Amino acid sequence: MPDAETVGTEGAKKGAAADAMMGGDPSELCARVRRRFVARFGSPPEGLVVCPGRVNLIGDHTDYAGGLAMPMAIDRHVVLAWGRGTTGDTIEIVSDALGAAARIAVSDGMPAAADAGPWVRHVGGICLLLGKSGVCVPSLRVLSDATLPIGAGLSSSAAHTIALATALCRASGYRATPSEMIELSRRVEAEFVGVPCGELDQTAIVHARAGCALLIDFGDHRIEHVPMAMHDAAWIVIDSRQRRMLANEAYGERRAQCEQAARMLGAAALGACTPVRLARSEKMPDAFRRRARHVIGECARVRAFAEAIRAGDLEAAGRLMYESHDSLRDDFAVSCDRLDLIREAGEEAGAPGVRLTGAGFGGCCVALVPEQDGARICEEIARAFESAFGERPRFLRVRPDEGVRSFDPSMRRLP
Ligand code: GLA
Repeated sequence: MPDAETVGTEGAKKGAAADAMMGGDPSELCARVRRRFVARFGSPPEGLVVCPGRVNLIGDHTDYAGGLAMPMAIDRHVVLAWGRGTTGDTIEIVSDALGAAARIAVSDGMPAAADAGPWVRHVGGICLLLGKSGVCVPSLRVLSDATLPIGAGLSSSAAHTIALATALCRASGYRATPSEMIELSRRVEAEFVGVPCGELDQTAIVHARAGCALLIDFGDHRIEHVPMAMHDAAWIVIDSRQRRMLANEAYGERRAQCEQAARMLGAAALGACTPVRLARSEKMPDAFRRRARHVIGECARVRAFAEAIRAGDLEAAGRLMYESHDSLRDDFAVSCDRLDLIREAGEEAGAPGVRLTGAGFGGCCVALVPEQDGARICEEIARAFESAFGERPRFLRVRPDEGVRSFDPSMRRLP
């Protein structure tokens, strides 16, 4: 399969669209962000932060239910350059990826004013929570850009939050632990954006190791790094181009249903329930039974998937991905026409595995394809998709990357 980032689709285009396709080594993006920082602020940055996005290979809507998931950080990044400000009390932030800029006043480590807009709310939320935990939030100038598509369900929001929080901690001399960073980012989503998410995205982004996926147990927060050296296989993210509204009620409703289903089963969380216990509770209302069946079944699939990957068994891993999609569609009701079509077209084209990834309601699918058949499979999916929806999906070949990291101005890695 060619190493192209757009697989059998749009070909190389100039400008932002092409940038979003760039993958792999983030050094080119780092150099550009550094140049742009100097042009904008007139002095070199004091540090850079590189933060990957993530794709969840299997195990969705299990994190907040204390279950299992297996995501990997991907080689699409948010890169952020930072330097201390001169004005004393402002965070000045420019995002080339969003084409937006904002100034936030900070007094006593707290943002005094945050104008409207979810992006600025994020920044204000990070400052506020860091301030509350005793960090003296410094005046900062920040410029960022990304090869990670924004709002596509690849955790761009968590990546931006963690990148900025990392820069603020560096600038103020505070060493946040990985758990603090994960918790901070989750709270920003919950308290400032209104998304009661779990910790899947943040855990993947903070704890990832190059070449590995993470097998995460959200029941006891244990993480195993699973090597992904499957030489004849490739991971393709297929963006349906349907932007999902994660903040909408459906996500919160599913979470509440899972909590209620666990109570009906007499368990602290669905992740701790067995199929036997579910089978015994005959009187459970249908919707709750379905939500529970998804979470309980999905946790078993994650375990089996990790085994299949370890054994290099593409077929078994792929089968579990299809089963996962079907369960998210039928029992958890978070799929949509575009994602279902990608799944069906993938199976018809002979892909070993395709499933929706992340929250659902739009966003992306992830496909496991043999290296030599990848381009053909993608082309067949693109054709079926185009004849149904009048546009082609976007394909990104992704590889397992390491987690968030910091660099000094000459790009020496910091511990
Ligand atoms: C979103 C949330 C995660 C997780 C997934 C579904 O990505 O941010 O916490 O719940 O949806 O698995």
